[in-house]
Amino acid sequence: MPSITGPVLDQTTPALARAWHAVALSGEVAAGPAATQIWLLGQPWCLARVPGAGLTAWADRCPHRLAPLSAGAVEAGGIRCGYHGWFFSVDGRCASIPATAPLEPPGRARVEIPWGLTERYGVVWMAPQEPASPLFDLPEWDDDSYSTGLSEVVRTPAGAALLVDNFLDAAHFPYVHAATFGTTEAASVVDRGIERDGFDVRTTFETWYREGGRTQPQLLTKEGSASLTVRLRLEFPESGTVIAILFSCTPERAGQSRVYKLLARNDLDHDPDRLKAFIEEEDTILREDLSILERYDHECVPLDRTVEIHTRADRLSLAWRRLMADFVGID
Ligand code: FES
Ligand SMILES: [Fe+2]
Repeated sequence: MPSITGPVLDQTTPALARAWHAVALSGEVAAGPAATQIWLLGQPWCLARVPGAGLTAWADRCPHRLAPLSAGAVEAGGIRCGYHGWFFSVDGRCASIPATAPLEPPGRARVEIPWGLTERYGVVWMAPQEPASPLFDLPEWDDDSYSTGLSEVVRTPAGAALLVDNFLDAAHFPYVHAATFGTTEAASVVDRGIERDGFDVRTTFETWYREGGRTQPQLLTKEGSASLTVRLRLEFPESGTVIAILFSCTPERAGQSRVYKLLARNDLDHDPDRLKAFIEEEDTILREDLSILERYDHECVPLDRTVEIHTRADRLSLAWRRLMADFVGID
């Protein structure tokens, strides 16, 4: 793969361990003895619902002979490695070694557990280390006037940071999204200025949106943080419609990302057919972006700002690069 000079954000950038990531759908982590293996930043993790303790994660490598713990069996209070039966509690400590019982397991017989693990909006979120930015909320999801749903969760070879960068961009609408919402009126990018507050960056674009043959003005607020999750709010002053989106890309490992897109919209009257049509349109929009991103000859975002050529229309992307450079500790 052709290289990019200078520092980059890629699928295994260590600083990204200090962020919340979407790692599974809640339904993918079942109750019962079977655990679930997920990948994040090139490392496998074992997820399980432990009787008496709830949702739990461990690094998916037993310290005995490095077998994947996810091949073991979930029991009350922890998981038993499927290879030689060492039992690990939800705090990561080894509580018993059947082959040498009643000897106490050595203190270093422990498995890494993540700093944070939670479920929100039907998704499991994990922060391996203490995150620099809080997990974005999506207040519209809990508002009864909104219909909510999840776009198809897709796995792609495109880089997770590139996907986030694309989601923060507004200049591609008339080109990449010409068959869906993109209009020629949106070619000129107008934003209301970039606001940066710590590890939070946002702007509101004054742009246009086409839907069902109608083109209307749109106020589009995009917000990024020290994470690979973006929050969007699309407001249509003419119709009063509001769409809120939480978009999260998981850098699973080199050449493999997963995309989660949580959707809330206030004009669907909880009509399942209209919600289904809206979600299918959002699936199509994501495929349009992937058609470009999967053809890139790299999967990283350069943090050296001289690698690309930026214009005023790239201000939000540039501000996010600066934020992420601060986050990973690059001057
Ligand atoms: S490898 Fe896990 S108990 Fe031996
Ligand atoms: Fe797009």
